[in-house]
Amino acid sequence: MPAPLLQISYSLSTIESAVHHFWECAHQYNVLAFSGELGAGKTTFIHALCDYLGVEDAVSSPTFALINEYHFKQNGNENIIYHMDWYRLRDTEEAIQAGMEDCIMQKDKYSFIEWPEKASDLLRSPYLWIDIKTIGPDERMMEVWVK
Ligand SMILES: Nc1ncnc2c1ncn2[C@@H]1O[C@H](COP(=O)(O)OP(=O)(O)OP(=O)(O)O)[C@@H](O)[C@H]1O
Ligand SMILES: [Mg+2]
Repeated sequence: MPAPLLQISYSLSTIESAVHHFWECAHQYNVLAFSGELGAGKTTFIHALCDYLGVEDAVSSPTFALINEYHFKQNGNENIIYHMDWYRLRDTEEAIQAGMEDCIMQKDKYSFIEWPEKASDLLRSPYLWIDIKTIGPDERMMEVWVK
């Protein structure tokens, strides 16, 4: 049984340190797929990660727009994060129509995806699968897998 790249539990008061550990192993992958039930904390974690990365655009759930674009500086260069929510997509075909594949194919930019299971056929190795589970009212357990 392969081991996860990272396994960490966190609350809202320790999320910053969780984000720090997460980014140490995640920054080298450009596609990050955040899986977890409604209200598990996908948007909350992505928001904290964007704060950590110095994103100055407003970070919010892309529920209606489906794709939000954020800008940040990485090693002195401008970089882009596409924050996608695939919840409302029916299938892979609809995801392609909505421009999701165009985003994840840009290897020099990051794609943070909520509800990746809606069109998981689009994901190409290597990428990270991040599983967030509620283990208490304010406690979350995160497991990060390389796929
Ligand atoms: N440790 C924690 N990490 C993340 N969220 C937490 C934590 N503890 C409590 N919460 C709360 O849980 C909720 C998580 O909501 P969030 O919108 O991030 O979930 P989501 O997984 O993006 O849901 P959706 O599937 O609807 O997009 C927020 O109200 C947040 O304040
Ligand atoms: Mg969300």
